[in-house]
Amino acid sequence: MRELTFEDVTVRFGSRRRGTVAVDGVNLVVPAGQIVGLVGESGSGKSTLARAAVGLVPLAAGQILLDGRPVAQYKTRPLQMIFQDPYSALDPRMSIGASIAEAMPRGAADRRAEVGRLLELVGLAAERAGARPDELSGGQRQRVALARALAGRPEVIVADEITSALDVSIQGAVLNAVRDLQRQMRLTMLFISHNLAVVRYVSDIVAVMRHGRIVEYGPVEQVLLDPRHEYTRELLDAVPRPGVPLGT
Ligand SMILES: Nc1ncnc2c1ncn2[C@@H]1O[C@H](COP(=O)(O)OP(=O)(O)O)[C@@H](O)[C@H]1O
Ligand SMILES: [Mg+2]
Repeated sequence: MRELTFEDVTVRFGSRRRGTVAVDGVNLVVPAGQIVGLVGESGSGKSTLARAAVGLVPLAAGQILLDGRPVAQYKTRPLQMIFQDPYSALDPRMSIGASIAEAMPRGAADRRAEVGRLLELVGLAAERAGARPDELSGGQRQRVALARALAGRPEVIVADEITSALDVSIQGAVLNAVRDLQRQMRLTMLFISHNLAVVRYVSDIVAVMRHGRIVEYGPVEQVLLDPRHEYTRELLDAVPRPGVPLGT
């Protein structure tokens, strides 16, 4: 299990004078084997922080560490990112089994059996390995994207709005799969959503982001029962009460 740490991370787009500071001096810890839910309105910098973690955008300042070592120093990336749109992760011409196998480490033995195991792990029948992405529903595709991310044997997963494109009726099932897998594989996870109801459902710790900064961080019950920041209260007011289906 690994701990993911953001230290004074700043990401800027455009020039120093006229650009945007998308992430502004973020300090954030994702403890080993736990899920930190990152919530905040659209444009608050969540995706930029996620992309910085997997090396897709350069840092203007600060560093991102895994167990105290800069992530960039790891030869095989122990970090995997899952995006909102499962289409982008899956090649439409390849069977889903081939897509999953492709993400496995070099030299992995018995890929076929491993593909079946991963499919079953995310709640799909192993026999579906030959299916193409367009034969699956959105929820099934997101499960395949999850299986593909797991195929690389990551220790840390960054999941960005992975249920936001899904029908509300199937979001819960995908979230359950995420939570079960995280527990079983003892993954460290940064789980991002603009929807506090979704974040609340899977997270151990909640971090609230606003205008590029973390304005609130704490155990999920504490943040929900006794938020420190006015902005968190506003987000809470927008969340349906328990028992009401998850919405967006
Ligand atoms: N590639 C980019 N080029 C320029 N500005 C960007 C880019 N990506 C994001 N931004 C800006 O950075 C800010 C944060 O965006 P983003 O990280 O996508 O927020 P969120 O995921 O919370 O909706 C926004 O103002 C957005 O317009
Ligand atoms: Mg985003």
